[in-house]
Amino acid sequence: MREGQNAVIYRADYQPPPYWIDAVELVFDLDPAKTRVLNRMKVRRNPDLPAQPLKLDGEELNLARVLVNGQGTSFKLEGGRLVLENLPEGHEPFELEIFTTCAPAKNTQLMGLYVSNGSFFTQCEAEGFRRITYFLDRPDVMASYTVTLRADKRLYPVLLSNGNRVGAGELDDGRHWARWVDPHRKPSYLFALVAGQLVCREQKVLSRGGKEHLLQVYVRAGDLDKTEHAMHSLMASVAWDEARFGLPLDLERFMVVATSDFNMGAMENKGLNIFNTKYVLASQATATDTDFANIESVVGHEYFHNWTGNRITCRDWFQLSLKEGLTVFRDQEFSQDLAGEASARAVKRIEDVRVLRTAQFPEDAGPMAHPVRPDQYLEINNFYTVTIYEKGAEVVRMMQTLVGRDGFARGLKLYFERHDGQAVTCDEFAQAIADANPQSKLHELLPQFKRWYSQAGTPRVKATSQWDAATGTYRLTLSQSCPPTPGQADKAPFVIPVAWGLLGPDGREVAHGLHVLTQASETLAVEGLAAEPVPSILRGFSAPVILEFDYSDEQLLALLAHDTDPFNRWEAGQRLAVNRALAAIRGEAGAALHLDAPFIEAMRSILRHPTLDAAFKELVLTLPAETYIAEQLDVVDPQRVHAVRESMREQLAAALLHDWAWAYEAHKDCGAYRPDPVSAGRRALAGLALTHLCIAARRTHDPVWPGKAYQRFKDASNMTDRFNALAALVISGHELARSALERFHAMFKDEPLVLDKWFSLQAGAPDRGGNILPAVRQLMQHPDFNIRNPNRARSLVFSYCSANPGAFHRPDAAGYVFWSERVIELDAINPQVAARLARALDRWRKLAEPQRSGAREAIARVAAKADLSNDVREVVTRALAE
Ligand code: TRP
Ligand code: ZN
Repeated sequence: MREGQNAVIYRADYQPPPYWIDAVELVFDLDPAKTRVLNRMKVRRNPDLPAQPLKLDGEELNLARVLVNGQGTSFKLEGGRLVLENLPEGHEPFELEIFTTCAPAKNTQLMGLYVSNGSFFTQCEAEGFRRITYFLDRPDVMASYTVTLRADKRLYPVLLSNGNRVGAGELDDGRHWARWVDPHRKPSYLFALVAGQLVCREQKVLSRGGKEHLLQVYVRAGDLDKTEHAMHSLMASVAWDEARFGLPLDLERFMVVATSDFNMGAMENKGLNIFNTKYVLASQATATDTDFANIESVVGHEYFHNWTGNRITCRDWFQLSLKEGLTVFRDQEFSQDLAGEASARAVKRIEDVRVLRTAQFPEDAGPMAHPVRPDQYLEINNFYTVTIYEKGAEVVRMMQTLVGRDGFARGLKLYFERHDGQAVTCDEFAQAIADANPQSKLHELLPQFKRWYSQAGTPRVKATSQWDAATGTYRLTLSQSCPPTPGQADKAPFVIPVAWGLLGPDGREVAHGLHVLTQASETLAVEGLAAEPVPSILRGFSAPVILEFDYSDEQLLALLAHDTDPFNRWEAGQRLAVNRALAAIRGEAGAALHLDAPFIEAMRSILRHPTLDAAFKELVLTLPAETYIAEQLDVVDPQRVHAVRESMREQLAAALLHDWAWAYEAHKDCGAYRPDPVSAGRRALAGLALTHLCIAARRTHDPVWPGKAYQRFKDASNMTDRFNALAALVISGHELARSALERFHAMFKDEPLVLDKWFSLQAGAPDRGGNILPAVRQLMQHPDFNIRNPNRARSLVFSYCSANPGAFHRPDAAGYVFWSERVIELDAINPQVAARLARALDRWRKLAEPQRSGAREAIARVAAKADLSNDVREVVTRALAE
């Protein structure tokens, strides 16, 4: 029986802690099989609450000793918790000493203290610290930490923990020690230690006030040459937070450590960030432009948590978006500011919105839908979601839109003046932003605005227009609604900032503004117009809503050609494509899809446009994702969606053949490799062109472009070009793909992150006659496959189940059988990773038959298994709930 089953936690049940832990002294004797942990805490009763027993969280610990003020004491173990009833009376602090052991080498969950490649790492967020020692493992208990590490010196020469190193020395038997003191109080989830054979890149930086800080990036010995970009990103992060928000680095020493076994992207432990290698290591030979960009934003994200998350933390885990939504918003702004000019900023914005709409909108419409501030959970690990992160960031962005950029910076300043050092709620954050801007709409509308925190679901804004030629008045009526979500049937109106513009018949903008929609329905009117305009609504994606407007093709073509708002310009192209995809999908099965000339010509003119950026062109010419198209349908046949999108891509390939060839030749050479947005955009467009050229060659059996792609694959001087060429061959299904894949594997057999790409490309390739599942099953047997490594599991299993709908949703349900086997297999190893995979079938109710029944049976099979983790059980139970 697993510990702590069946306990749903409710936000409304929050109680302050009955005890405070002011200081912790930890002594670790590190050993993979049996690590000893001595924990001496200074504890006192919370004077605001009646006397009650102290119940400390613990999980998979072996308890050896408990002392209170140096004396033995009685205790009980209740459901994993250590319960102490006979504690000193009164409010004086007392010392509580607990001695436990744990087994890091057996820790496959990667929560708490674990071993990866012979080194020790910790992961404590959200509830991992209780797997290291007994504690009040909740974020509102903040303590000062002193940590002593002891370990074999040869095997673990580097010993790290949070804060500053205050001492080190030798011990007997080849062991050594180091002691660390964190100058800042912190919740237990920010504790970290690392011990192993690591090397580091160092950099000293000066803050504006003239203080010196040491930045370090720790990796395994062979990886030092791949740390330059991460270090540059870190230096840029330090400078940006000081420049944009006046937030300086508050530590003498800031460390980043990379590990290849990690459940998520990275973790913001105070002064000792631990990262998935995927978000640290990069060289032009092994990492793509996307990898470089992701490293920049994840390094920024974790660094920015140092203020938003660490200096001010969450009162309880329901407030998770307090730190995550805000910090995603900050990392998005950081990447935009580094990108520089307006069109590169817009490209980043479009990419962020694409994530929101392809991942968060489906979450909001499915069984796991939850508000940005949830009301309940069974397993908190399941709530590190795109809703908490990405929708949470959109909520913060709307606040900035309502108070302005300077007003938002003022608000953040007030937030720190009020709450530095505290554990607070989302209410306190919103209040600070509003109070710093007393004249703003946010201040006026705050209670209603906060529905963004409490109501789940994606609001729909339906717009209708009225043109009064006699008076030259254009009216836009905006009506909002929000579909019910599990446990929330009725939704009250949101505060929706709608940025808008109007284009005249010549394409020039004749008016623009920001309308703050608060009622169920409102009308805005613009007078004095000479002719009926084309509306550009929800510019910059000013709110996370679905905008419905009955655009004609002519209007969309006008927006695509002329809108001054780059987001809506891109959006017009997406709408043109989605409309065509939906018409084809809804048409009779087999009805040939024919892309019309106006659409093709519009795409051609964007591709050939003399002044638009390559990066922007690449976004416009990329068809909407299958998952995005699927969300527009009530009943989904994923294979039909896939077939229609493939057919559209083939027609774009053939119809624009000469244009693609031009685009490839014009953009393929970028000089010396630099991962900046301009040259990355050129490589992206060249890559898209090459894929289309290879797709077109499939029809004509013309060997020229596949041959060029193969040559490019062999000669490329960077991973972006090499991988794009390989992908062009794999996606077009050309016979050269096989030998290119073999070569690629041989070239990079010692580069785990590149092997991940190799697995993921094959698992995510377009299905041809059901060939992908057998290939995936075969790759599971490959000597380089290891399901225990989360990156590798994601690269093969998730790439197939979550990122390849056309191959996964087989009518024979074999994809679902594979999914259920892997969920069960992974659940015994790593429940967090298993639960993420479990979510691949979130949207099963939308599926057409026979997939719908096949999926339901597979979920039921998983749900019927005894001894599931809370993680997986919560996901499958919610999926099956009516
Ligand atoms: N707080 C981390 C971030 O967003 C992510 C995180 C939460 C995490 N839980 C985790 C990372 C568990 C690894 C494992 O930056
Ligand atoms: Zn975060």
